[in-house]
Amino acid sequence: MEHLLKLLDLSKDEIIDILNLADQLKYENKNDIEHKLLKGKTLGMIFQKSSTRTRVSFETGMYQLGGQALFLSNRDLQIGRGEPVQDTARVLSRYLDGIMIRTFEQQEVEDLAKFGSIPVINGLTDFCHPCQVLADLMTIREHKNRLDGVKLCYIGDGNNMANSLIVGGLKVGMNVSIACPDDYRPHKSVLEFAKDYPDKFTLTSNILEAAADADVLYTDVWTSMGEEAETQKRKKDFAGYQINDEVMSYAKSDAMVQHCLPAHREEEITEKVFELHADEIFDEAENRLHAQKAVMVKVMGERV
Ligand code: CP
Ligand code: NVA
Repeated sequence: MEHLLKLLDLSKDEIIDILNLADQLKYENKNDIEHKLLKGKTLGMIFQKSSTRTRVSFETGMYQLGGQALFLSNRDLQIGRGEPVQDTARVLSRYLDGIMIRTFEQQEVEDLAKFGSIPVINGLTDFCHPCQVLADLMTIREHKNRLDGVKLCYIGDGNNMANSLIVGGLKVGMNVSIACPDDYRPHKSVLEFAKDYPDKFTLTSNILEAAADADVLYTDVWTSMGEEAETQKRKKDFAGYQINDEVMSYAKSDAMVQHCLPAHREEEITEKVFELHADEIFDEAENRLHAQKAVMVKVMGERV
């Protein structure tokens, strides 16, 4: 694997390989088994949006693997003053061993990979969030012991999370149902991809229909980073698109809940459901560390 730009680029086997390595690295981490698989390597982390989990898990992950990570804020980089991504890519390729980037346009991530000569990892764009979904799949497999045939229901905005969950979930054999308002559907390229899985994918505006018999209920904020000007309109448009007791009662009795975080309680999820399922949600947050270490080893390391 050369880069992680989006899950559409990965095969099922590549995704499962990452999850297996993530499980192994998690086991080693819990048992204090050191593995300096990225000894002496440096990851540059470009952030054009805020982050808690992504920044801290990548930075800690690099340290645990024997390397180091540099936090490169848009406010400080020349890219924030208009230096072209083509030039930034070629300069950073002369210093670093890999780049993680969180930005707006997916094209910027693709360009970084195209013009640079080192691995690029997508740490979230408006289009997708592949690192998050790898951690999600890892967590679901930990709790359900399988992925094949597991039903995931996502309720909310057809945003970067919905796009990546559809692609990742379908590729590993899950059934995926999405409930979103008609004006907030997932990206058309993702819906095109999902056409290859007619028996495994449903898209509806009916939350309860989507939640029926779900093994996993997933939601995300109504207003993503960069959309803050639409907050009030979105509060109206998404009213009711919430994981609450009623929605849980339509899912399987042992259904788990996932949220990429940060969460807005009483908007996309009630405080009660969030706290009842907090262990699953924070396992998911923890697994960002292990899944991303696996991704970094795959693209920057020797271990395959
Ligand atoms: N879920 C996620 O990517 O969190 P951060 O925005 O805190 O990185
Ligand atoms: N959809 C959210 C995900 C945050 C991890 C956003 O893009 O802000």
